[in-house]
Formats: sequence, structure tokens, C-alpha cells
Amino acid sequence: MNRSELLASLARCVGERHVLTTPTDTAPFSQDWRRKYRGEAAAVVSPASTAEVAAVLQLAHAQRIPVVTQGGNTGMSGGATPDGSGTQIVLSTRRLNRIRHVDALNDTIEVEAGVVLEAVQVAASEVGRLFPLALAAQGSCTIGGNLATNAGGTAVLRYGNARDLALGLEVVTPDGRIWNGLRGLRKDNTGYDLKQLYIGSEGTLGVITAAVLMLFPPPAARRTAMLTLPSIDNAVQLLNRVRAELGPALTAFEVISAACVPVLQRHFPAMRWPFETLVPVVALIETSDHESEAHARDTLAFVLEQALEDEIATDGVIGESVAQSRALWTLREHLSEAQALEGSHIKHDIAVPISRVAAFVDAAVKQLQRGFPGARMAWFGHLGDGNLHFNVLAPVDADPQAFCARQDEVNRLVHDLVQAHSGSISAEHGLGQLRRDESARYKDSVELALMQGVKQALDPLGLMNPGKVLGPMPEG
Ligand code: FAD
Ligand code: MLT
Ligand code: ZN
Repeated sequence: MNRSELLASLARCVGERHVLTTPTDTAPFSQDWRRKYRGEAAAVVSPASTAEVAAVLQLAHAQRIPVVTQGGNTGMSGGATPDGSGTQIVLSTRRLNRIRHVDALNDTIEVEAGVVLEAVQVAASEVGRLFPLALAAQGSCTIGGNLATNAGGTAVLRYGNARDLALGLEVVTPDGRIWNGLRGLRKDNTGYDLKQLYIGSEGTLGVITAAVLMLFPPPAARRTAMLTLPSIDNAVQLLNRVRAELGPALTAFEVISAACVPVLQRHFPAMRWPFETLVPVVALIETSDHESEAHARDTLAFVLEQALEDEIATDGVIGESVAQSRALWTLREHLSEAQALEGSHIKHDIAVPISRVAAFVDAAVKQLQRGFPGARMAWFGHLGDGNLHFNVLAPVDADPQAFCARQDEVNRLVHDLVQAHSGSISAEHGLGQLRRDESARYKDSVELALMQGVKQALDPLGLMNPGKVLGPMPEG
């Protein structure tokens, strides 16, 4: 089948208007959010129903055409970007955007894969429920992308990852069959849990077209506090205390290192940082209270007072209103964008057991300072679940390109330390193409072989997002 026959066949699957072919039209789909990867798509096709997805995959399967699924294109690992060959189709889920059903009594919502995360949160709140997955990209990332990457975000310590929030899935297999696994059950031991294979598979096993997600009772009040701390070790101690004090009311515990602050202020000067002096670490704590506003405020104030009295923290502020709490969150949510605007930064998305976070940070800072004098340790992230974005920025007056040219050395140093601290080199962003080869370096060989077996079983022709997550299959 030549190119024009292929485009005509795709148009028959989804309608001509929904097959983009010109370089101008396909360009936004061919580059990732960080602008680190750029590819070239044979076409961008946007099906509007599960049946249309199935038709596209049947065609791609018959013609042996690789398919890259793309949701909101906010992924951090280059997983949704086609390669440069011009032979891969991008399948955009943006028209799979219906909220199919809310079952308030069952505390579940059934949505299509292209629904934007924020729209799910809104739909849940309209029926007096909470959908707790929360991340700074929630205005543009999709549920399909969240599930495909097993997204984490800021509420994992209380509600879990995307994986923990999905009860059922609908998936189109690489040969175009539809698996309807849209069950809204909390208990279902009828064999292998296939949905958990698709969750976190980054588009390499099939296309997720819809999901049944769990809802929760919303809290009566939410309060946020920001505390300054002398060290990461103090932050871990504080987390331990706050967890004991607040129990399940603790819904976020984020940390921000000193080096992040000037970068945030440079790129977002209108945002007010609440502290005069720069301190090594700031913690952002959120409580979700099921009693009342007053109870939320009092418990948080108590925690803050105790931390100051015991010299774990040196200063702190509590958001006195929803608007003030939001303003504190806004600072946190803009760190990623500020660092992207700063450029010349080397990102990491690591997790280690919470008990080993302080030792990891201290060792990494020491070794990086020795090997890369002046480099800025602009780490931040989700201490509540042991996941830090341990980002390293070029020294202020260094040549950014020369610094970034040493990226592999920086990665190796950080990831070897992660390994030494029993951690993971990709906590929540997935492997995509960014961490594929490094993952193979650190993963147990048996685990890697089993993963290759799963890929071979579910996508024997290797058409789903080739080159992501796993390298080429071993011979034989
Ligand atoms: P895309 O980027 O489009 O795709 C990501 C991967 O999923 C690709 O491999 C793609 O092929 C696959 N995929 C997408 N849809 C489907 C589908 N329907 N079926 C099968 N495969 C599919 N991530 C976190 O985990 N926590 C954070 O706190 C966080 N904060 C962020 C903040 C900012 C400012 C930004 C830009 C990103 C952040 N991210 C975070 C990363 C990103 O938002 C998440 O990875 C998100 O889950 C990706 O969703 P998406 O719809 O944009 O997916
Ligand atoms: C975050 O926590 O803000 C995100 O995961 C994005 C990032 O790491 O840049
Ligand atoms: Zn994160």
C-alpha cells in the first residue's frame, strides 16, 4: 500500500478531516513537551470512538505500520513522540473525550481515554465526589496518558498512583480487537489482572480507550502550610511526625530545595515567595480534613508549632484561605516550567525508600559538587512517597551546552547512587525513550526477560510504540 492509499484507508476509518498529513499540521504532535525529542509522523489520526480505534489498528496491523499513541503530549520521557523515520502513525486520543457514566453509589466514573484529567476532577465534584489524582499538567494531560504512564503527582501518599485508582479498562489490542474490561469491582480474582499490565505500559502493548476510575468522599476542608527546614533530614523527620499526627488527613508532603527558588523568581517574578531568607529546604504540606475548616487549621497550626518548638523547622506559614493555599501550590506547580525556561538542566525522576532519602540526597549533592563544581542542585518533589525530581542545573556562568554535553556522566552518577540506595530511576514519568537504555542497565535480567516475554505475547509484530520502554528484542 503506498502513502496515498494508506491515507485514504485511514480517512475511511475516521473521516478525512481527522487525518493530518502536512508537516505544519503534524508538527505539534511530533515534538515532546520538553522539546527534547522531535520526530516525523506519517500521519496523525484522531479516532472518535473505540470502534474507530479498532479500525485504525486493524489497518495498521494488516499493513505492518507502527503506531504511537498520544494523549495530552505532556509526558516527560519522550514516550508519545514518533521516531524520525516518517513511517509511524500518531494515534491521538483527543476526540475520545466523553465522560460515559458516573455511578455515585458505586463511587466510580467511566471515562474515555482522551478526557483531560481536570475534566474528570470536575465531573466527580459535580456529584459530590473527589477524583484525587493531581499533577501540575492536569489541565492538559489525559486519563489515557495518566494510566499509560501510571502517573503519580502530589496525592500519592494518600490515594496511590493512577494504577491504584483504576478498577477497569477498555483496550484495543495491536491487531484491532476490543477488550472490554470495564468492571467497577473492588474485588475480582478471576485470573491474571490484565489491566495492570496495560497500566504503565506507555502505549507499547495496546491502546487504552476507556477506564472505570475510583471516586472518594471529598474533604470538608483543605489547608496548606509551608515550612522552612535546615536540611532534608529534618524534612524526613517532619514527614514522619506529620504522618503520625494527621494520619489519613495528610494528602501531600512536597519538598523544594533552595536552588529552585531563584529560578522560579527569575521566570515568574509576579509570584510571591513567602520567606525572606533562602533556606536549604521548604516543605509544602496539605491536610484534607473531614471535620471542618477550623479543625483543619488547628491541626495544621499544632503541627507547625511543634515543629518550630522542637527546632525541626525554622519558620512557616499557613494558607489562611483557599486563595492563600492555592497561591502556595502555584509556586510548587511552576517549578517544572521555570526549570524548562531556564534551560540547561538535567532531569531525574528517582525514588528511594523514604528512610534513605536523606542519605541519598547528601551523597548525590556531595559527589556532584565534586565532579561538577558550581552545578545547581535544584531538586524538588514528592517526599511523601520517596520520589524526588533530582534535577541538576548548569552553573550560573557556565556554558549551558558544555554542561549538558556531560549529561550521561551526571545521569550515571545519580542513577548509580539510586541503585545503591535500593531505588528506581523512573518513579512516575515512565521510561519512554529517555530512560529505556538506562533501565536495561539497572533492571534485574530475569525481570527484563519476563517483560520482553510480555511484549512478545501481546504485540508479537512490535507495532505498538516501537523503541519505547524496551530495546530491540534479543535474537531467538
Ligand atoms: P502523553 O504525553 O500523550 O503520553 C505519555 C505516554 O503514554 C506515551 O508513551 C504514550 O504513547 C502513552 N499513551 C497516552 N495515551 C495512551 C492511551 N490512551 N493508550 C495507551 N498509551 C497511551 N507526571 C507525574 O506522574 N506526576 C507529576 O507530578 C507530573 N507533573 C507534571 C507537570 C508538568 C508541568 C508536566 C508538563 C508534566 C508532568 N507530568 C507528571 C508528566 C505527564 O503529565 C504525565 O506523564 C501524564 O500522565 C501524561 O499524560 P498525557 O495524556 O500527556 O500523555
Ligand atoms: C512535578 O512533580 O512537577 C513533575 O513530575 C514534573 C517535573 O518533574 O518536572
Ligand atoms: Zn513529579
